[in-house]
Amino acid sequence: MQNSCKNVYITTPIYYVNDVAHIGHAYTTIIADMLARYSRLIGHNTYLLTGTDEHGQKIAQSAEARNKTPKEYADEISGKFRSLWDEFDITYDKFIRTTDEEHKIGVQKAFLKMYENGDIYKGEYEGFYCVPCETFYPESQLIDEQFCPECGRATIVVKEESYFFKLSSYEDKLLKWYEENPDCILPRAKKNEIVNFVRNGLKDLSISRTSFDWGVKLPKEMNEPKHVMYVWLDALLNYTTALGYGTDEKNMNFWPANIHLVGKDILRFHAIYWPAFLMSLNLPLPKHIAAHGWWTRDGEKMSKSKGNVVNPKEVADAYGLDAFRYFLLREVPFGQDGDFSQKALIDRINSDLGNDLGNLLNRIIGMSGKYFDYNVSSKDVEKFHKKEIEEVNSIVDSLENYIYNMQINRYLEEIWKILTIANKAINDYEPWNLIKDGKNDQAMALVALITNIMAKVALLLDSVMPHKIKDIANCLGVEISTENYNKLILNKEFLNDVKITKVDALFPRVEDILLAQPQTSDVTKTEDGDSKVELEKLDIEDNLITIDKFFETTIKVGTIIEAQEVPKSGKLLLLKVDLGENRPRQILAGIKEFYSAVDLIGTQACVVANLKPAKLMGYVSEGMLLAAKDENGLSLIRPEKPKKIGTKIS
Ligand code: ME8
Ligand code: MG
Repeated sequence: MQNSCKNVYITTPIYYVNDVAHIGHAYTTIIADMLARYSRLIGHNTYLLTGTDEHGQKIAQSAEARNKTPKEYADEISGKFRSLWDEFDITYDKFIRTTDEEHKIGVQKAFLKMYENGDIYKGEYEGFYCVPCETFYPESQLIDEQFCPECGRATIVVKEESYFFKLSSYEDKLLKWYEENPDCILPRAKKNEIVNFVRNGLKDLSISRTSFDWGVKLPKEMNEPKHVMYVWLDALLNYTTALGYGTDEKNMNFWPANIHLVGKDILRFHAIYWPAFLMSLNLPLPKHIAAHGWWTRDGEKMSKSKGNVVNPKEVADAYGLDAFRYFLLREVPFGQDGDFSQKALIDRINSDLGNDLGNLLNRIIGMSGKYFDYNVSSKDVEKFHKKEIEEVNSIVDSLENYIYNMQINRYLEEIWKILTIANKAINDYEPWNLIKDGKNDQAMALVALITNIMAKVALLLDSVMPHKIKDIANCLGVEISTENYNKLILNKEFLNDVKITKVDALFPRVEDILLAQPQTSDVTKTEDGDSKVELEKLDIEDNLITIDKFFETTIKVGTIIEAQEVPKSGKLLLLKVDLGENRPRQILAGIKEFYSAVDLIGTQACVVANLKPAKLMGYVSEGMLLAAKDENGLSLIRPEKPKKIGTKIS
């Protein structure tokens, strides 16, 4: 059976330019790249899209905090994403930026079309908005009446004129789509959450803002110069504008997308808003929206303030890009959360990649060289190894389904079963004894069996580890091509005679952890002896104060609502902290070496509120943040859970 050539369109999310790439971005992008490479190899006409999401309040604030224009800032970070994907050899066909002119034109055309279809009306939005998540929330969803239910940071109150999209009128149409397309959202458990959410009722969606201007303007036909589009409307439309929607539509034949890959945190936007927008535009809906899980590090949530974010480039540089790709794809079932640890990665390298795969190639090199001067002929494989060939073929036939169900880890597990069959055959047939007994034709059949298996495995793993597979292909003298895929995988033919070429060990053993471990939260474990009734005397008695004295200091919980660098100061950040007073306090804090301004916005801190104001670098400072500093750095002291602003510390 030959695969017919068809158009396949695969997308990653477009990444916000407020941050450099981390393991989560690399994960989505590598899955998408794997699927695209696989799709091309089996002969489909494939288009892989990635890019950056550059508008919105969050980016505007990040830029401001760095004293840059949003565009300057976006250029810088977008460029970093692009060069990382280039270094990672991601085979994208287009890298879209939402600041691209064609994108903006396409988005404006789409807005107008939705308006003309009667799906957009003008109103006033009054409610809460989380800037880091770029999401509106009704009051009922907030935590402690103030905090974002997703990220826990303080929301801001928004009251402004706004255009709305009639999302509520798409409830039934969406439910019908979910029902008629069982696999439109993967995995199924995630789909059920979406269906339940929609069943509970949808509110119309605010899709324009007037309180800042870093966004796509409404189409000029609307005559609303104050309005910019809601960043998620702008962002989602990238999947069609990238193909030329609204401008040069020559690639629109790739629409609808076969698969939008997303993280679970942004599934709702893709599985509810996006299909509703598409229906309003009379465009076909994507075939699949697939949501992957969340990565932690050494069992802990990653965050910049903890300093434990996995930097994908560091990992790939230290352990090898292909090993990292294999680890990400093999370690967790798609859709589930996964944990990154260097130990787990090293285990995969030494056992799966080194022992099972790399050693098998070495055995081929060794056996073919020693017995046959590196010449391998497949002519007697079927005669002596019918059983092994049948076992291998039946696994090979089952593989495609795992890809279509997004069970990439299962796909890899099954390929490893093929490797086990090969390794076992060598141990069972003992080629060294066959040679000793003069059964050279049987020994040749065995070496050829293993070589054919390795060639198949190389074709099957090319999408996962394209660089190492090139080494295998060179060693076996087999080209990784659609033609050979059809021949060896689909038609189950054997290799022609091949000449083996020696190559270096594919995956040398890794003995030690190669990257410095992050300083994790310093929990000092106390040895739990018997509790003593009598306390040993502390040696700080001179310092003792009464509780009244302590309460002379007023310490309050506040939310940092603005943060920026102080020009010419290497240490100071200029903060606005809301303590629930008539206006926010201006506070200068010597924490610039330890926190970037943008990460502080929306977080809480403890403020000494009754300090006499002081002037630093020409700015008045109206308070002091509590912090602890040791040789490993400085940490702000914050309430463990968000507290109402102005709460007094006692
Ligand atoms: O959400 N583990 O961009 P983004 C796994 N611009 N994946 C993670 C992760 C983690 N720890 N942290 C983040 C946006 N991600 C929007 C998308 S699309 C039209 C607009 C994933 O840069 C997250 O799930 O915040 C998401 O898929 C991706 O990183 C991009 O996140
Ligand atoms: Mg995000």
